[in-house]
Parts: sequence; structure tokens; C-alpha cells
Amino acid sequence: MYTVRKVTDDLYYVGGDDRRLALFENIFPIPEGVSYNSYLLMDEKTVLVDAVDWAITREYMLNVDRVLDGRDLDYLIVNHMEPDHCSSIELMLQKYPNLKIISSEKAILFMRQFGYHVDDRYIEVKEGDTMSFGKHTLAFVEAPMVHWPEVLMTYDTTNGVLFSADAFGSFIANNGRLFADEVDWDRDYLDEARRYYTNIVGKYGTFVQKALEKAGGLDIKYICPLHGLVWRDDFGYILDKYTHWATYEPEEDGVLIVYASMYGNTEFAAQALAAKLCEAGITNISLRDVSNTHVSVLIAEAFKYSNIVLASVTYNLGVYPLMQNFIEDMKALNVQNRAVSIIDNGSWAPQAGEKMEKYLDEEMKLMDVLPEQLNMVSSLKAMKEPDMDAIVEGIQDSIKKRKEEKEKSKSQNKSKK
Ligand code: FEO
Repeated sequence: MYTVRKVTDDLYYVGGDDRRLALFENIFPIPEGVSYNSYLLMDEKTVLVDAVDWAITREYMLNVDRVLDGRDLDYLIVNHMEPDHCSSIELMLQKYPNLKIISSEKAILFMRQFGYHVDDRYIEVKEGDTMSFGKHTLAFVEAPMVHWPEVLMTYDTTNGVLFSADAFGSFIANNGRLFADEVDWDRDYLDEARRYYTNIVGKYGTFVQKALEKAGGLDIKYICPLHGLVWRDDFGYILDKYTHWATYEPEEDGVLIVYASMYGNTEFAAQALAAKLCEAGITNISLRDVSNTHVSVLIAEAFKYSNIVLASVTYNLGVYPLMQNFIEDMKALNVQNRAVSIIDNGSWAPQAGEKMEKYLDEEMKLMDVLPEQLNMVSSLKAMKEPDMDAIVEGIQDSIKKRKEEKEKSKSQNKSKK
């Protein structure tokens, strides 16, 4: 049995799913699995586009063999040399002794570093190069830092297929599906696609913007990523998501409240704030305990919402370690352009609020720390209600201001046209 599906004339999906891996990159939980995508073009020459992780190499080789149906494999295009796509290269080189690898200069360097010393079998390509394999002529587009520096995207000028490497990928196994329009993608895949993008590629927004500009100049009919489902329509929808993520613009006006609480007192304050926000009409809220929410989920939601509230207990005269880790991860992934409200707590020397504010101001880009704060001593008291109300008002004002700025820039763009 095989897991092959036809993408379009001459092009077959030959990748597969991994539902056994607990942690992608040994960091990110993937409870719904992940796919490693590979595509086989059957032209006068046979051309495999990217390979797969070691975990599914056996079924992958069966798929390739099945589609080749007795023909030899002539070329393997390596768009991305990360081992989740390239562990199987060594076996493919052994099985197909005439196979040549087409890739960028950097990827070939990485292949040597990973131990593939087959110098007579490498064909180096760069931006703008094309190769014809019969009916199909493929053009190579450099896309550095989406997600590693060696990355290429490959565009089939004959049928408009863009092999987009990690871009437009997602966690979640394909489970027999191939196309994004075969599922309710917005309902079932968006959160995991956001978590994938923001944590894996989020740091490199400016590079992603450049790649999106290049892609904008192509007549694209299919987007074939290395993980997740293939896009063949509704490109505006997914491009809009990517544009938000790459430019660090929030997708939604709403509030991510992340709290660090040891005995429930800071948690109670976070809940009280959520209730007050809802009373004030701001109901688009995600309330998360930093101690039992994986940081990759927090990062994805920091990219999603316009406002963040950090509520932390003081620990060892500093910020609670898991909260500190979240803030540092936001910095590492370039989270910016958000309004942040602060709540802190401490029983004898509260320090968390001051330290979080200093970090946001001095270490991060364009984080607007709102002046309204709530400082608690051990537990939330009724006398602090005005401070809580002030935080709600500060959030309301910042959302209003963001909306007005958006409207203004929209009307300026319109008048420029
Ligand atoms: Fe899916 Fe950057 O590898």
C-alpha cells in the first residue's frame, strides 16, 4: 500500500506522516503529528523535490519506487538541507546510483558537513537559474533564512507550482489529505500553522517579507510546502496570514493574559482582569498559565493578539523563571509592536514588575509598556480595584488607538493609489 497522491499532471506527492515524534526539533510538542512532504515530477527526466525525515524513509522509498514504476531517478532538488527533510538522502544516493542532487552552494556545503561526500553528483544552482527536464522548466529562487540560510524555492514555469520549502507549512499530519481545501483549514489548522511559523521562522520576518515579494511576482497555481497541506486556491487568505506574521502586525484586536502564580493569588488577579475586560466589551481574550502552557503556544498567541498582559509573582528577587523564559523567547523570535500591561506580586520584596518593564523597554523592539500597572502584596485586595480598572482603560485606549492608526494608514494607501 502507498501514500501517493497526484498533485497535478506529472506531479505526485510521495511524502508521509510522522505521528510518533513527540517533540519537533526536540522542542515543540506535536500531539497531532507532522508531515514531511516530497514531490516527484515525472517528465522526460524524473525529478524528486526534497526528501524526508529518517522516521518515514522506508515508506517514502516505497512511494518513490511506486511512482517511478521501473524508471530511474535522475535528479533530487534539495530546497532545504535541514535533516527533517534530508536524512533520507544517503539511502536515495545508494539506491539510485545515477541520481544527481541540484541545490544551492550553501546547501551543498551543509551536505558535506552532514557527511554526504558525493562531489561528482552535485549540481549547484543560484537565483534566476533554470533547468528544463522535458515539458517542465524549473526556476530557482533564493529564500535565505526561510528558515535556514541555504534555502531555495523552486518554481515550475510550466504549470505554476511553487515548491515553497518551509514557508506555508504547518504542524499536523496530513492524514490522507493533500489539499488545504479538503479540510476546514481556518478552524482546524490555523492555530498549528501559526505555532509552526512563529516558533520556527518567526525570528526572520524581514527575510520572509522578501521571499513573499518574490513570490508575488510569480503566477502561482499551487503552493507545495515541506510540511502540511498544498494550496491550490484562496492564496489571498494564506498570504494575508503570512504578511501579518512576517511584519509582526497582530492578526486580531484582543488580549493574551499570561500569568505566573505559585499559590493562586496572581492567577486570581489575572482572572479578575479577564472578567473586567469582558465587562468592558473586550471578549477576545486568551488566559494562559505560564506553568502549564508550552511556550510555543504562548509565542503563537503573542503573534496573534494586539495586547499582552504579563502577570508575574516575584521569585528569587526576580521574575518567575518560566515567565522570564517566555519573555526571552519573545525577544529571540522578534515579537514586537505590541502593547503590554503589567501585574506583579511579591510578599516582601516585589521585583517582578520592575524587571519585566526594564526588559521590555531595554531589550525588545517596539514594545509599548502601558503606564497603568497593578502591584500586589501577596494577594489581591479590594483597594486595588481602581488600579485594575485603570489597566482595563489603558487596554481599551490602546486598542482604539491601533484601530484609528490602521484606518488612517488604509485611507493614506487608498489616496496614494
Ligand atoms: Fe522543516 Fe526547516 O525544516
